[in-house]
Amino acid sequence: MVERFSAVEVIVAKRDGRALTDAQIDWVIDAYTRGAVADEQMSALAMAIVLNGMSRHEISRWTSAMIASGERMDFSGLHRPTVDKHSTGGVGDKITLPLAPLVAACGAAVPQLSGRGLGHTGGTLDKLESIPGWRASLSNEEMLAQLRDVGAVVCAAGDGLAPADKKLYALRDVTGTVEAIPLIASSIMSKKIAEGASALVLDVKTGSGAFMKDPELARELARTMVELGNDAGVHTTALITAMDVPLGRTAGNAIEVAESLEVLAGGGPSDVRELTVVLARTMLDAVGLDRVDPADALDDGRAMDAWKSMIRAQGGDPDAPLPHANESHVVHAARDGVVTRLDAYGVGMAAWRLGAGRARKEDPVQAGAGVRWHVTQGEHVRAGQTLATLYTDTPELFPAALADLSSALVVGDPADAVEALPLVVDRIGG
Ligand code: URA
Repeated sequence: MVERFSAVEVIVAKRDGRALTDAQIDWVIDAYTRGAVADEQMSALAMAIVLNGMSRHEISRWTSAMIASGERMDFSGLHRPTVDKHSTGGVGDKITLPLAPLVAACGAAVPQLSGRGLGHTGGTLDKLESIPGWRASLSNEEMLAQLRDVGAVVCAAGDGLAPADKKLYALRDVTGTVEAIPLIASSIMSKKIAEGASALVLDVKTGSGAFMKDPELARELARTMVELGNDAGVHTTALITAMDVPLGRTAGNAIEVAESLEVLAGGGPSDVRELTVVLARTMLDAVGLDRVDPADALDDGRAMDAWKSMIRAQGGDPDAPLPHANESHVVHAARDGVVTRLDAYGVGMAAWRLGAGRARKEDPVQAGAGVRWHVTQGEHVRAGQTLATLYTDTPELFPAALADLSSALVVGDPADAVEALPLVVDRIGG
């Protein structure tokens, strides 16, 4: 096949700060997916994009080219409006678990394609896989049938969805080219637009445990993604939410499922419940179901019923006991004082070291591993009080996890207490 461009001329154009043409973008994404552009060429181009950026038009064209590299799902035959949520990822972020069945219980259909965790943030599929029998891989037909019958599905994205992004994301991960708004926005939105929901709510995290630690950068990422979604005909709203302290009281896999069940039963930590309800309201508003109150569906058992149906439909037993770790270690306060710091990143690292997360994408995770914190930032504690419990099947991992936790969970003087961010920092679009 005669190629329309040379990869070097496209790389040089971006290296020298020029905008890529539509034809160059379409070609380079297609040629990379086919293997006609080599990994080292694509990584040079990705680095040039990190350094020199992309215009709004280039980002939009890049996103469309990645969508066109694979299939686009179509849920227009369903009798319910479809709405999806995407979180940029955080520590203790189990919100998808109660949210998808909750929104389904309120009348919308939620086709949620999720990922596995890498690094200090957990993955929704890893959490759900701690439920005995639950299966992450579904065919498109199974997904459609479950959306029709249950209204919610959380499963792995198939290989057919934005394959260019799959290849490029893996390359960016090992070439220091993840952190660029044009590349992040196009990566996330190509998958979300190809997924075919009519509305999308983005939960863009900011703070130490987030990808975008700086709220201004989180806003810019959110604005870029909202524009890409709306341009593609997907009603898109973004909430910028706090990830300076971890969400809820647990980070891990099975222990996060257990906490989600508390929320589905009408209880649970107040921040997890509040964020679940705020996101559910935003999703329902986006598809015109604004007269339904999702808080009622948590309190009267409808969301729990939808959860059980969703888990059963994917082979899981919602009533089976969840796995737990063989070993635990309790951390006590050394002094009276105030929790001056409960740092999301450090807690996430501790959970990761205990075996809840993975270093390489092919590594297994431990279902029972993780961290439970019994106190939160700003809380007064007494010497000897339980601060946290660590869980793992591999007790030799305790020292490294404790080292992370000792700088992430700090008891000090009230004057040193740091104020946590509000749960919802900002809202863009909608
Ligand atoms: N998540 C994605 O899917 N892509 C990125 O580039 C970053 C986070």
